[in-house]
Amino acid sequence: MRLILLGAPGAGKGTQAQVICERFGIPQISTGDMLRAAVKEGSELGLKVKEIMTTGGLVSDEIIIALVKERIAQPDCENGFLFDGFPRTIPQADAMREGNVKLDHVLEIAVDDEEIVKRLAGRRVHPGSGRVYHVEYNPPKEMGKDDVTGEPLIQRDDDRETTVRNRLAVYHDQTAPLVDYYQRWAEQEPEEAPVYHRVEGVGGVKEISRQVLDALEG
Ligand code: AP5
Ligand code: ZN
Repeated sequence: MRLILLGAPGAGKGTQAQVICERFGIPQISTGDMLRAAVKEGSELGLKVKEIMTTGGLVSDEIIIALVKERIAQPDCENGFLFDGFPRTIPQADAMREGNVKLDHVLEIAVDDEEIVKRLAGRRVHPGSGRVYHVEYNPPKEMGKDDVTGEPLIQRDDDRETTVRNRLAVYHDQTAPLVDYYQRWAEQEPEEAPVYHRVEGVGGVKEISRQVLDALEG
């Protein structure tokens, strides 16, 4: 199973990725998590992307495409993988298509902008694993602590409201065109293109997971 999760910042890609990856036994490839890990390490890549990420802009296609190509060549990707937050631009999508990276599904999680602002303000994450919570909608068992390790949860640097608005603008400008891109490709070359699915991302996390798994298994 090889799939793309497509959706605005805060649509619930990371949240649903956990469920899908567990069900199909595939790794979650979150370019955002990979870049945040690089920033935390203070590596050369991290220093290069820190500023862009804090303001909510996009890291260059060149850097991202190289990062993903290296990642999918790892042995744990042999039986498939899930892309979370990639591709995010037409050139990134073209790089996969031209590189013959065959994909089975594209799953769009649709959520409107005002809901997203509310969600990101209450998001808390476990930096070590990428596990995602919300203070109100998806709270951890013990406030402020990761369910699995008990380690402290943090708020992401880019979850301040002004940055969130900027991330949304970038999404509408650069990433939303991929909805059309994959829908058209599926119509034109149904044998080659990934199957396109759209799920409404507003409602309980469990209910959305059910719809997501139905779409992928059905
Ligand atoms: P990235 O980490 O990919 O961030 P994003 O796309 O902005 O997405 P988020 O992680 O914010 O949201 P999500 O959809 O995963 O939602 P989540 O499940 O956490 O990218 C960060 C940055 O890295 C970018 O801005 C860019 O600079 C750079 N970057 C990354 N990839 C790149 C690329 N390919 N090219 C260029 N640059 C790149 O859920 C959000 C909150 O809502 C949580 O609190 C959750 O608990 C809650 N929630 C989830 N589902 C529900 C529900 N159904 N009801 C209520 N609350 C819910
Ligand atoms: Zn995420």
